[in-house]
Amino acid sequence: MVDDALDFLFPKSEQAVVRLTVGLVCSRPHLLPPAFLVPSMRFAKANPQQTCPSRFSLSSVKLRCCIEGEASQPKKTASLSMEDAKPTMVKAAVEVTLRKFELSDVDAMMAWASDPQVAAVCRWDPYESTEPLLAFIRDVVLPHPWFRAICVAGEPRPVGAVSVSPTGDPCRAELGYVLARAHWGRGVATAAVKRTVAAVFAEVPGLERVEALVDVANPASQRVLEKAGFTREAVLRKYTAVKGVVRDMVIFSFINADPVPE
Ligand SMILES: CC(C)(COP(=O)(O)OP(=O)(O)OC[C@H]1O[C@@H](n2cnc3c(N)ncnc32)[C@H](O)[C@@H]1OP(=O)(O)O)[C@@H](O)C(=O)NCCC(=O)NCCS
Repeated sequence: MVDDALDFLFPKSEQAVVRLTVGLVCSRPHLLPPAFLVPSMRFAKANPQQTCPSRFSLSSVKLRCCIEGEASQPKKTASLSMEDAKPTMVKAAVEVTLRKFELSDVDAMMAWASDPQVAAVCRWDPYESTEPLLAFIRDVVLPHPWFRAICVAGEPRPVGAVSVSPTGDPCRAELGYVLARAHWGRGVATAAVKRTVAAVFAEVPGLERVEALVDVANPASQRVLEKAGFTREAVLRKYTAVKGVVRDMVIFSFINADPVPE
């Protein structure tokens, strides 16, 4: 994308080294990764390999450019839509690990369990205090056969949860996951789901299929499953009531013979 922008702004100065001040117009600014908060970046037009540090869903990008070494006044400005810019940016890998929960994780869990925006797509209502959440960890999470905390490198506390719950049939289990909003959009859920399917068939006796039911109105969650190698099987019309509203759900599956994507 930066190469496209530079072609647009400096079509004749092939070797120009420019400093870009990048302003982002994003429909979901809370999802921006920290790399995009850097106020300016230095790019050499002569280096076509240069890419931005992360890929993201942006509606447009505004660039203010000046030739390096000159006054900081921008020489040219431009707004490019993502469609025009044909982005080639890559998403930095996030290091994700899974571990069992402990009662002491209650404060970390409050970060997502008390968030109305997270709870909106889940069956539970936002928690208003730690006591009922502590009871949930004690009575449901700790005895659960496969309920794991999602941890990311550099964060001392869990940032989310992933579970594989038994169904009526021992060959089949149901996947669920949730992530604190501060960590959305960095590939954390996808990495956690990949780690889950890589581990769970070996750890749960008789398990052959993991399935996930996602609301048709939750595209981020559907995308997570697609990226983690799940197969989208069908839309189950008027399948379940969530908080009193009957919803259409997409069913995804991953079987023990499926490859986990790189
Ligand atoms: C769904 C959820 C787990 C995703 O976590 P995450 O770590 O942000 O997910 P990832 O970054 O791994 O992937 C999200 C993908 O969805 C895409 N996405 C996000 N919002 C989107 C939207 N409104 N429309 C389309 N795609 C969207 C992202 O761009 C990304 O895809 P990409 O890598 O191809 O760009 C998180 O948003 C969450 O906890 N939501 C609330 C709880 C929930 O929905 N749980 C699942 C219930 S089935």
